Amino acid sequence: MKFRFTAAAVAAALIGASVPSFAAEISISASSTGKNLDLFRKQLDAFEKATGNTVKIVTMPPSSTEQFSQYRLWLAAGNTDVDVYQTDVIWAPQLADQFVDLKDATKDVVGDFFPAIVGSQTVNGRLVAMPLYTDAPALFYRKDLLEKYGKQPPKTWDEMEATAKEIQEKERAAGQKDMWGYVFQGNAYEGLTCDALEWVKSSGGGQIIETDGTISINNERAAAALNRAKGWIGTISPSGVLAYQEEESRGVWQTGNAVFMRNWPYAYALGNGADSPVKGKFDVTTLPVAAEGDKPSSTLGGWNLAVSKYSKNPDAAIELVKFLTSKESQKQRAIELSNLPTLSALYDDKDIAAAQPFMPNWKPIFENAVPRPSAVAKVKYNEVSAKFWTAVHNTLSGNGTAEENLELLEADLTTLQGSGW
Ligand code: GLC
Repeated sequence: MKFRFTAAAVAAALIGASVPSFAAEISISASSTGKNLDLFRKQLDAFEKATGNTVKIVTMPPSSTEQFSQYRLWLAAGNTDVDVYQTDVIWAPQLADQFVDLKDATKDVVGDFFPAIVGSQTVNGRLVAMPLYTDAPALFYRKDLLEKYGKQPPKTWDEMEATAKEIQEKERAAGQKDMWGYVFQGNAYEGLTCDALEWVKSSGGGQIIETDGTISINNERAAAALNRAKGWIGTISPSGVLAYQEEESRGVWQTGNAVFMRNWPYAYALGNGADSPVKGKFDVTTLPVAAEGDKPSSTLGGWNLAVSKYSKNPDAAIELVKFLTSKESQKQRAIELSNLPTLSALYDDKDIAAAQPFMPNWKPIFENAVPRPSAVAKVKYNEVSAKFWTAVHNTLSGNGTAEENLELLEADLTTLQGSGW
């Protein structure tokens, strides 16, 4: 049976279909990655129809880092133009004071959400954002090309590298001049922190700062993991990868010019879109590990919705957050954008499994995903991450060795920790 989403009906049911006497004008600030804003607009139209409120979208660039800098400025200035913010999972401790506590307003529904995700958005007992979708990356691989050359999806980074190299060379020799082995996120921003944390953690090199506060990053395994990644630049990965964020990697991949890609689940639905050259030609698996037996490591990502403390219409804003994070809205988001729901019941949903067959398998992967050290570094997390991605980017660019850059990083993080976090 074909799944049909009657958004207006859902909104009406959720909100009680009573158009309030004073309709509010509110706005939501959100990322322009993939088709995120198109789906939001569709759902906002339904919300408007059901409530009589109007909702404007404030369009943000895809980079989490750029969004964070802008939001921090707006919130520090008490900006009243944005009522609802789409927030990255790592921001809660840093922006908590600027957001409304959603605990009371969501007490009837919050129990349906994954407790760990709700926990990540709870700061000093205040629920500062409602989970919209969760995220755990995949290794995307071209099924057709692996079959053509008799290869299995790789389990280790070495296997990935060897398969990428061989297929890249053979495809180029056969006339596919633009073929690359592997694309990922190498730009100096939050995305590189995610990629590099995976290289390090899957090599037994820890998670930058451990949960007890120990700064662990300056170790041989971490250095070896970064040196391995440096070896990819200009060989299996284009040098331009040093400027790639998610969308640039997806661009190369989706035009059919990469054997492997590291990316988040949103790239699955887009890659299978009607006009996509790789439609039906790829699958996803867990990211590789350093050695057989090591645990696959995905960085935990995800996005939430928060209500600004400076909103002039907090009630309408809260209704909107509840509507956009509802079961029906998340189901539509999973089916159309292949974003991972934050409601556990949706992992047994047949319509979702039919539209996005990888999704039921992804539940244990995000449940075991590695968190970035945002809970431990608290308000200093952005500085910690910026120092880490800079050390990694320098290493990948040949600006100092991994060993040198990690030693400097350790010293910097120690100073930062000394000043309190
Ligand atoms: C994804 C993740 C987010 C992360 C970002 C980095 O959007 O969901 O948590 O910070 O990628 O680029």
